Amino acid sequence: MRVTFLGQAGLLIETRAGSILCDPWFSPAYFGSWLPFPANDGIDPTTLQNPTYLYISHLHHDHFDPAWLADHVDRSATVILPDYPIGDLRRELHRLGFRRFVALGGWEIQRRCPHMKADLTRFATVDDGVLTCQLHGWQFDLAGGTCLTSADHPIDARRMTKDEIAALAATAEVADAAVEVAGAANGAAATD
Ligand code: FES
Repeated sequence: MRVTFLGQAGLLIETRAGSILCDPWFSPAYFGSWLPFPANDGIDPTTLQNPTYLYISHLHHDHFDPAWLADHVDRSATVILPDYPIGDLRRELHRLGFRRFVALGGWEIQRRCPHMKADLTRFATVDDGVLTCQLHGWQFDLAGGTCLTSADHPIDARRMTKDEIAALAATAEVADAAVEVAGAANGAAATD
């Protein structure tokens, strides 16, 4: 395996089973007040344009560089999604044209709480398949999509299937590398 540092949090991980491009950041962000460090303008973007996998850790623009991704990365790359309880990161990458996703942890959940529409990007925690909205403490069973606090108020959530997990296991070597990058993972999903 070979790991190439790309500046800031950027890495290119190359293995026999494929490559993972992580957090490539090349464009000045936030009105030019944030710049890649160390300077990485000498890196040839054509060496990064065809990764097997793309991993973006989160949407801050020193990690997620939509203009550079749009110009330089082939959309056939499979995106490795962190185990976040909402789909903002997936939506942004889908908007750029990426269509294949692998989710670490395995839940995709509607953004607004079914109780009083709290933003679950800020208020949700997920533990053992139960989502708790911290605003008023309501809880939801993600597997069944049911509210544990009220008789109604279902939640829209999706978990990976066994077939999807099996499909990912076929790329175990790359998945193991992804786990190292992500820090932790306990499941996986593949969707279009
Ligand atoms: S808005 Fe989520 S529990 Fe009230």
